[in-house]
Amino acid sequence: MRRYAEYPELNGSIGKVIHVQRDANIFEFQCTGGKSRITILAPRIIRVQATQDDEYRRYESFATVGYSEPVPVEEEDHEDRKVISGEHFRLEVMLNQFVLRLLDSSRSVIQEDLPSGGVVWSGNGFECRKRMLGNEHFYGTGEKAHGLDKRGLHYEMWNTDNGDHDSKTDPLYQSIPFFIVFREGVAHGIFLDNTYRTELDFGLRNPSYYSFSAPNGPLDYYLFLGPRISDVVEEYTSLTGKPCFVPRWALGHQQSRFMEYRNEEDVLSVARNLRNHRIPCDTMVLDIGYMNECRVFTWDQKVFSDPKAFTSSLARMGFKVMTIIDPGVKLEDGYFMYDEGVRAGYFLAKENGSLYVGLVWAGETVFPDFSRSEVRAWFGSKYKMLADSGTSNSSWIDMNEPSNCIYDKLKDEYSMVDVVDCQGNPWEARLRNVYALGMAQAVFGGLKDAFPGKRPFILTRSGFAGYQRYAAMWTGDNHSTWDMLWLSIPMLLNLGLSGVPFCGADIGGFGGDTTPELLARWYQLGAFYPFSRNHSDIRSIRQEPWLFGEEAESVARDSVSFRYLLMRYFYSLAKTASTSGIPIMRPLVLEFQDDPATYTLDTQFMIGPFLMVAPVLEEGANSREVYFPRGRWYDLWTDTSIEGPQSLRVDAPFDRIPVYLRAGSIIPTGRIVQNTDEDQGDLVLWVYPGGTSTTAVFEDDGVSDNEQSCETTFAQDSTDDRVVVTIDKRKGRWKPAERSLVLEVKGLTRPKSVEADGKRVLQEKTVAGLEKRSPSSFYDLAHKTLHMKLKDDGNSHKISLVL
Ligand code: GLC
Repeated sequence: MRRYAEYPELNGSIGKVIHVQRDANIFEFQCTGGKSRITILAPRIIRVQATQDDEYRRYESFATVGYSEPVPVEEEDHEDRKVISGEHFRLEVMLNQFVLRLLDSSRSVIQEDLPSGGVVWSGNGFECRKRMLGNEHFYGTGEKAHGLDKRGLHYEMWNTDNGDHDSKTDPLYQSIPFFIVFREGVAHGIFLDNTYRTELDFGLRNPSYYSFSAPNGPLDYYLFLGPRISDVVEEYTSLTGKPCFVPRWALGHQQSRFMEYRNEEDVLSVARNLRNHRIPCDTMVLDIGYMNECRVFTWDQKVFSDPKAFTSSLARMGFKVMTIIDPGVKLEDGYFMYDEGVRAGYFLAKENGSLYVGLVWAGETVFPDFSRSEVRAWFGSKYKMLADSGTSNSSWIDMNEPSNCIYDKLKDEYSMVDVVDCQGNPWEARLRNVYALGMAQAVFGGLKDAFPGKRPFILTRSGFAGYQRYAAMWTGDNHSTWDMLWLSIPMLLNLGLSGVPFCGADIGGFGGDTTPELLARWYQLGAFYPFSRNHSDIRSIRQEPWLFGEEAESVARDSVSFRYLLMRYFYSLAKTASTSGIPIMRPLVLEFQDDPATYTLDTQFMIGPFLMVAPVLEEGANSREVYFPRGRWYDLWTDTSIEGPQSLRVDAPFDRIPVYLRAGSIIPTGRIVQNTDEDQGDLVLWVYPGGTSTTAVFEDDGVSDNEQSCETTFAQDSTDDRVVVTIDKRKGRWKPAERSLVLEVKGLTRPKSVEADGKRVLQEKTVAGLEKRSPSSFYDLAHKTLHMKLKDDGNSHKISLVL
């Protein structure tokens, strides 16, 4: 038993409770050193606010979307505590000293303030300290370096252009003060809704507690009840908004480079090479060089004299064009963006009224104040110009921390500390972290207007909690190193757990020169990133795969082709992410919460519930250790099966990334295409029998923001002597092109009988026989796979195999 004396002395605590008042689900606690309001917002969400004076919040939240649900709440009064309880929790508020104890529905304590006080003031700031109960793991925290588990680490939330970061650097480009506490198989979450330079400490300062703090108010945090990690992510994204559903083409491979464009051919030749080398790709990305000396919303007419004709040539090859836009506007009289913005007073200014001037790519630059709706509308309206030049319903928004001075030596000269907000208060301390969120909102609105009825795709570098409503992200300027190849996994996994499912890292590494081996291994991993793009720095060697020899090129081709083969799976997972918040790329602990071997595992991951990926992360390696959780796993390459739990060293020669499918998998696939607008043909479902499972396949035209979509649910129910696959009647208004459904049931001995809807189906002698009639079946002995083909008529069907 830990004695209280072991905890550090705390001054200025919120003190004793002297009065409690209830109004519906809001409980007010008047204390000797401040007051606290506890609101039961939803069955699994509790809001805790505290203040030293009368006001809980002086400004609206940028992060939350006003979510609440009715909840029956009970209260009990005891001599030393007030107890507030609902179906999923019991919250005890100690009266002698305002201290919270949170218990889950099984009455186990899952969180407890330090006994000496849950809230401590320091000047205008505060700190909340929670007792380390033992064995905690911490996940989430948005875009942060280090491994998956944050225990023993400390982070600052301060959006920073940190191009030289490595696997231990902090802070980075984004701020998401949300984390998941996971202990003894039970998860809950905490989100501190405060935009100042907040800090999260997971036992670095003192291993006996974890804490969150801010230099200024509000003290406003939310508790999310599990017990599943997925429950916590769902609740967090109910509060801060579900992720936007990106268009399908945005899930395709993208090709990019920071470069000077001398002529259109510089881009067109890369596009042609992608097609000639049969490396599927949807998008050619244009970096700052396409603009007229980095003036946003212009084209460099010397290179791109007719942007519309240029984008049309790419469209004819099946490419979309995505262009970069930075927030900064070149300071230059006569440039329309500058003139209009100055006239209307849209740019950030200092207390004396003069414009704030930064130093970015275009030289001296001014910054739109995206916290104002009229500024957002103005900036967004400029997307019509890009739309008219034939770019896609998209925008890559960069340098939006904001990155206000690109030369380290001059940082002080261009400091933002004197900038003030509309009320004349210091701007940077409170609003820096939400600058990119405002920009994303502006761009989202602009793209919606410029491309009516289409879902925008925004890729942002910076952001704050909630930006997932508008944008996907990439992890900024990584480097071509093996360490960064690995780092991309825990970073993206934690982003996924922080409500950002659409994320990726630059394939090949941005800074520094990659090697054929590193590039090949990066393609193998990067082809599974939710956002999958090769991008590199102007100062590094070019990074197109065909420049690295035939072997590396063929690895890139195979990896990207496999992604396209799985595109229907990715797309359905993207849809699920947009309604639930559950990420596409998942740490194993999300799927195997009861298995301690997964709790810190960040060298392998899941795509959706079924596919496990274990990339090679070491130079020169041709095998690696893989952990297989309980159950049966099938090797993608050999179809052999492995029983978990166990760790195994597996072969991983240069041309192979270890990939496994879990027994119970139902994975929608299709023909490999060169871009996602091409028809993928028959809907082919890989079924790996095992227990019971379902998958929902979502389809639409890939881009429209309407109700014209459909969903088909497939289920399998398997025992040792039979496999039953049911296909539900298609729901929704979208009608896919004429096609067949093909089931490939893997890992089987030859079935004694095959039935479709109660009628026996003959087994053809050759695979070609499948074309003869519908339904038809064929058993492939070499691959131990039963193929079953039937017309996709949208009706329900039941396929039974007797083994
Ligand atoms: C920033 C971005 C990088 C981009 C460059 C030029 O460094 O992070 O991706 O290529 O700016 O726009």
